[in-house]
Amino acid sequence: MVDFCQNMKEKIKILSAEIENFAISNLQELENFRIKFIGTKGSIKELFNDLKSVPNEEKKEIGQLMNGLRMLAEDKYNQFKSNLEEANNKAELIDFSRPGEDFSVGSHHPISLVRAEIIAIFNRIGYTVSEGPEIEDDWHNFSALNFPPEHPARDMQDTFFIEKGENEMALRTHTSSVQVRVMENQQPPIRTISPGRVYRNEAISARAHCFFHQVEGLYIDKNVSFADLKQTLLHFAQEMFGEKAQIRLRPSYFPFTEPSAEVDVSCSICNSKGCNVCKYTGWLEILGCGMVDPNVLEAAGIDSKVYTGFAFGMGIERITQLKYKVNDLRLYSENDIRFLKQFTSVL
Ligand code: DAH
Repeated sequence: MVDFCQNMKEKIKILSAEIENFAISNLQELENFRIKFIGTKGSIKELFNDLKSVPNEEKKEIGQLMNGLRMLAEDKYNQFKSNLEEANNKAELIDFSRPGEDFSVGSHHPISLVRAEIIAIFNRIGYTVSEGPEIEDDWHNFSALNFPPEHPARDMQDTFFIEKGENEMALRTHTSSVQVRVMENQQPPIRTISPGRVYRNEAISARAHCFFHQVEGLYIDKNVSFADLKQTLLHFAQEMFGEKAQIRLRPSYFPFTEPSAEVDVSCSICNSKGCNVCKYTGWLEILGCGMVDPNVLEAAGIDSKVYTGFAFGMGIERITQLKYKVNDLRLYSENDIRFLKQFTSVL
């Protein structure tokens, strides 16, 4: 009997080692495990049958060992079962045959698109890009540009002043301030454009905003003529609006240019036939320009007897309006995704 009991204990040891080492990595192996150890014909059941033959005094000890063995097997079974089920559920969640989901990469803001296009057009004909500060002093924004002290553009209504008085500082009202900075720092030949944000103290509406964007152009060298200006602007209009685009110049006035002109481009929306955008004139105003006033050259330290030049300034919002038919200035700064999304495919 001692041998029988010894033998039982030995079997329990071997079985528990087997249970522990049994590899389960899929449902079939889990089922094999169950059949081998826990099932009605499994080795643990068999062993329990032998328990009858164990003498009473040994029953307690061997019974405990066998219960331990059964628990070991059942615990392992339950744990692997839930592990495999969990993995199975996850695998069901990930369907590898499903087509990938689109993800949004956003889009460029229309103002950025048009700004980049203007820069690219002028880069190709030799213009550099220059920038200046948005907070400007009176000299660069007004005085050096030949604005007389009483000029209405200096009025509180147009300009956001940051500091009044002797050290007057304001948000620049146009990017013409950058031409002064360029001329002060560089002798001709100068061929540059200055894109940037400008500010004006205006009530916000569909047609006016308190900030917007401009591109200033400046070309100074010996013998620069009005014909050069006209040809440059025609080239720009055709690059921007298509080769059929035409321009016309109307005499105008700016303190910093003489003579000055406003430039219209033929309406690309109706092919100059007349529509409500061009107010049935066939033409749309896009910029101001002129020959740099000798006073401006001299104020910036350039000899006006040797050099001449032209300048022009355009609003990026305006060009964007014509190119993409955006008719309300407020759309540019409201971050309405429905508006911005329309530019995803551009570029
Ligand atoms: N600075 C002008 C404005 O803000 C635009 C402009 C007109 C710029 C004529 C120029 C120019 O350089 O020659 O309305």
